Amino acid sequence: MLKIYFLSYLISVVLCHKIHVMINEPKCNIKITKVAQSKINEVDFDNLSFGSVFADHMLVCNYKNGKWQEPEIMPYQPITLDPSAKIFHYGQSIFEGMKAYKDADKNIWLFRPLENFKRLNISAKRLAIPELPEAYFMDGLKTLLQLDKDWIPSKDGSSLYIRPFMFASGEGFHASPADAYKFIIACAPSGAYFSGKVKVLIEEKYSRSANGGVGFAKAGGNYAGQFYPTQLAVEKGYQQVIWTDDTTHEYIEEAGAMNIFIRINDTLITGPTSDRILDGITRKSIIDIAKDEGIDVEVRKIKVTEVVEAAKNGTLKEMFGAGTAAVISPISGFGFKDNDYDLPELDSTYAARLKKRITDIQTNKADDPFGWRMKVQ
Ligand code: PLP
Ligand code: COI
Repeated sequence: MLKIYFLSYLISVVLCHKIHVMINEPKCNIKITKVAQSKINEVDFDNLSFGSVFADHMLVCNYKNGKWQEPEIMPYQPITLDPSAKIFHYGQSIFEGMKAYKDADKNIWLFRPLENFKRLNISAKRLAIPELPEAYFMDGLKTLLQLDKDWIPSKDGSSLYIRPFMFASGEGFHASPADAYKFIIACAPSGAYFSGKVKVLIEEKYSRSANGGVGFAKAGGNYAGQFYPTQLAVEKGYQQVIWTDDTTHEYIEEAGAMNIFIRINDTLITGPTSDRILDGITRKSIIDIAKDEGIDVEVRKIKVTEVVEAAKNGTLKEMFGAGTAAVISPISGFGFKDNDYDLPELDSTYAARLKKRITDIQTNKADDPFGWRMKVQ
């Protein structure tokens, strides 16, 4: 008798929890307004640059009256904002970067999209922006991709770059969080982010982020703060800056808009994430793939002097950046304290091997033992 009571109590607890979750989960009814005339015939899909032409539609979701409203899909178009919108003054703005791929059978794939959703809300929280419901992000994105599926390139090295972003549209000069926000997803059929290897400068003066700051968030302001030091590096003949820690500038942290990997002898090293470093989805995937390939991986702090020493004694084999836009971007050499150090030209590299493995998983050309790929249907 006691057993039956206990069992029915358990069932009612589980059911109540389920009903509670269902009631609190917003439903996603997406209003769709299609373009009168597609622009797709104007696009040269064989010569795509990165992020400069945009698919026909965008998803827009507004936050007002204390709540995210249901998403809408509409033709890609300019946005009208009041000059006092808080994005312009106080920089409440975050974004994500993702890609959609099309395989030989025209199936559409996303790579770990829930990680982007989670990180969007981590960034939102840090910037005092209201968090978005998962259904609005995932259902909205899938519906948008199905509508604009012809915009997803299938050529090797190309993909549909997806840019979800959120910003304060609420008005007023008072320096406080806005009461209205917009979440938008815009898509751009894109080719490679970098063409060829990049030469980087190890930064000794400027910082990208600081302890307790917003470096771990994908906040627009993090990138604005990078542009000036990067311009100075470009003037000196480098393409990217390698950021070091803000306190001592002794430790390697990130590479521009990528996480960084360093190969000394046969060991692949990357720094641990912290509140100064973006927890890159490519970074954590590369760590898992490398381990799966039997490569010795160390996640630990790495000093600039260790890298310089390795370059001098010939044990520094490779450096590469890793990120959604750039995938894996090999580094040809680095500058530090007015000296340049070249990396060797190897016949077979970890960068090439890991890039092939991750892109094969992303584009459904290889098994996905990690369960990262998500079919859009
Ligand atoms: N670090 C920074 C500062 C970035 O902007 C990016 C790009 O998104 C990354 C790292 C790589 O992150 P992910 O692999 O999630 O794209
Ligand atoms: C990405 O890799 O998706 C990024 O967001 C980097 C961006 C600055 C191009």
